[in-house]
Amino acid sequence: MAWLRVLTALALGSICSGAIIESIADLTKLKLKFDYIVVGGGTSGAVIGNRLTENKDVSVLILEAGGSNANVLNIIVPAFCTMATPQTPQDWNYTTIPQPGLSGRAIAYPRGFVLGGSSSVNYMVYTRGARDDFDRFARVTGDQGWSWDSLIPYILKNERFGPPGGPPQHHRAVSA
Ligand SMILES: *[C@@H]1O[C@H](CO)[C@@H](O)[C@H](O)[C@H]1NC(C)=O
Repeated sequence: MAWLRVLTALALGSICSGAIIESIADLTKLKLKFDYIVVGGGTSGAVIGNRLTENKDVSVLILEAGGSNANVLNIIVPAFCTMATPQTPQDWNYTTIPQPGLSGRAIAYPRGFVLGGSSSVNYMVYTRGARDDFDRFARVTGDQGWSWDSLIPYILKNERFGPPGGPPQHHRAVSA
């Protein structure tokens, strides 16, 4: 699987509480069975992995197509993230089709190709989306759980900002 560049294993019991692994071979040294496998190490995948491992008996493997965010200065230094995209190793390098509203120009459409996903390359800025969008998801799926009123408590829970927690804990080489 050439697209798979980073594996994040969390809650590995006595071995360690988390590891970033960059090859399948290293993973097999650690553990082969996980309670959950999360596909995508962007914002959502990271939040889901974190929530699942609030139970210390649960093990989680997060798969990320892009690379690690470790030692990537354009991601670590806040004001440098203007240089994190486009056309960098941390970008999917998408381009829009020609846009009528932009005189037919096609423009770069940066998306994070790295642990943390697009939040790693966009100042962690995000927009909730509109009430109408969520209510449409609920209508289309027939599941009221997707409605704005159902989701807003969780959106607000996520919007709790705190000071930086210090440098990321990064374990590159892990022996079994
Ligand atoms: C995006 O472009 C950069 C610069 O050419 C490259 O290093 C990177 O691998 C590309 N990203 C993807 C996902 O192909």
